[in-house]
Amino acid sequence: MTDLKRELEYKYFDLKVNNRIPFEPDIALVLGSGLGDYADSEAFIKVAEIPYSEIEGFPVSTVSGHDGRFVFGMVGDKKVVCMKGRVHYYEGYTVDKVVLPIRLMRRMGAKILLLTNAAGGINPTYRPGDFVSISDHISSFMPSPLIGPNEDSFGVRFPDMSLVYSEMLRDTLKGCAKELEIDLKEGVYVQLTGPNYETPAEIRMLSRLGADLVGMSTVIEAMAAHHMGMEICGISLVTNMASGVISGAVLSHEEVKETAAVAKERFTALVTSFLRSIPMSGIME
Ligand code: HPA
Repeated sequence: MTDLKRELEYKYFDLKVNNRIPFEPDIALVLGSGLGDYADSEAFIKVAEIPYSEIEGFPVSTVSGHDGRFVFGMVGDKKVVCMKGRVHYYEGYTVDKVVLPIRLMRRMGAKILLLTNAAGGINPTYRPGDFVSISDHISSFMPSPLIGPNEDSFGVRFPDMSLVYSEMLRDTLKGCAKELEIDLKEGVYVQLTGPNYETPAEIRMLSRLGADLVGMSTVIEAMAAHHMGMEICGISLVTNMASGVISGAVLSHEEVKETAAVAKERFTALVTSFLRSIPMSGIME
């Protein structure tokens, strides 16, 4: 057994024997910057919560706008475990620590993962406030979370990454957006380490590499989850245009949080409709 598996099993059984896990979740949901309020919305019927600080050796977020807890609840008939706040590589955690909560939610039983984030828009057709369904990603600026001894019970040594974001889930999301009259875009997300925002020259480079969106999360989480066979969907909220796309604009975390606050109702409607609509039959059976 690898150290990774031993650590995961230890954490899982510790929570299990202490009755901290109320159900086997269908869906894992990660709430990005400024989007954490979803777990307190009426759409999410809260059942239990576990602050990360109560899990021994667990990474804890240090960023404003990032609460840190697992929240368990029902959305329609779906059992959801939600990460209200995630940790980031720029906080100083290793990539395998950053993806540990994802692996733990998979260990709890979640087969579907919805990743959400706040992102900078590189594609000039995007506008702040737009929602984008992530169609693919660029991980090349990050260390892979799969480096190290492979845990064969999670997945294979050399996992295919040709289809990380489930077509079925993307179609479901598109249908929900249409019904809600939300103009959902599609795009390629690139994860950089942060914590600094990019220079205009970096954004021109990323644009030429095929990126539509830039952020500091999501990709390594998607890779770890895909390795473990989860069905993945990603939604970015464009909180600002990336550096230099609109010349002269200065980026700040305040702006990111403000745009997220304005988008809150539409985000809640889209996520709720999506979670309710996911067909569970045929998922990883
Ligand atoms: N760059 C990187 N990460 C981000 C941005 C950005 O412009 N906006 C929100 N997260």
